[in-house]
Amino acid sequence: MNMIEVRDLCVSLKKKTGDHLIIKNVSFSVKAGECLGILGESGSGKSMTVKAFTGLLDQNFALTGRALFHGQDLLQQRKEALRRLRGRQIAMVLQNPMTCFDPLYRIGSQIAETFTAHTDWDNARIREESIRLLEQMQLRDPAEVLEKYPHQLSGGMLQRIMIGIALAMQPELLIADEPTTAIDAITQFEILQEFRKIKADQKTAMLFISHDLGAVSQVADRILVMNNGSVVDEGDFSHILHHACDPYTRLLVEKRSAVMGRYRSILRGEVAV
Ligand SMILES: Nc1ncnc2c1ncn2[C@@H]1O[C@H](COP(=O)(O)OP(=O)(O)O)[C@@H](O)[C@H]1O
Ligand SMILES: [Mg+2]
Repeated sequence: MNMIEVRDLCVSLKKKTGDHLIIKNVSFSVKAGECLGILGESGSGKSMTVKAFTGLLDQNFALTGRALFHGQDLLQQRKEALRRLRGRQIAMVLQNPMTCFDPLYRIGSQIAETFTAHTDWDNARIREESIRLLEQMQLRDPAEVLEKYPHQLSGGMLQRIMIGIALAMQPELLIADEPTTAIDAITQFEILQEFRKIKADQKTAMLFISHDLGAVSQVADRILVMNNGSVVDEGDFSHILHHACDPYTRLLVEKRSAVMGRYRSILRGEVAV
């Protein structure tokens, strides 16, 4: 059964001069244990699509279509109900990690808050699990990290902590919007493995948004390609790589192949760096 089913989602920006259509008839569905990748260049409408059905857009935007979660249309829900869903069944890893932490509280207490809300663990267990979470996200000196304030950590570290918290919630729907952009390639590989693990328990449906075909291909079972607010292609990795008809999708693949080709040439010593 589908965990989330989005049908004909349209988002327009209300303007005095007339509405400006940004998201055009986007449809997709994701089952528990499945990961749908959303691939597209910057500005193609990836973030706007997920913000629309999770209640993160203000009144300047008009929404039509449906987004069924447990049979309920999220587009018809009040902001307050959506906010509660976002704290429990739906976990989100957003593009800008800084905005997700409260600057006034230490990292440890912000992680503890999530665990307190989702479990009946005592303080000792919470501390133990917090350290485990940071270790899983490849952070060094986890005990020290717990004592830090957000501004004392790099964007990449905060992004990893945010992913750790989202994964620890064991949500029904996990939405990760460019989750690994501020993370170096080696750590990225480890973290994508954690995403794969969460998929394996078959309880979570995942939406993984990225402009990077390489990152998407490591976790997604199917890939949706977006361009200029529309879905232009859909299929598994091999379809996107070998059979995509859409010219824009081909361009994304060729760009990626060109980068990989150059990388291999450098490794073989054929090109000076
Ligand atoms: N707050 C906003 N107000 C008006 N237009 C916006 C806003 N945020 C994004 N847009 C526009 O919506 C389109 C899609 O943006 P977005 O979903 O953020 O792209 P992506 O996440 O794929 O990089 C872009 O053309 C962008 O300019
Ligand atoms: Mg975005």
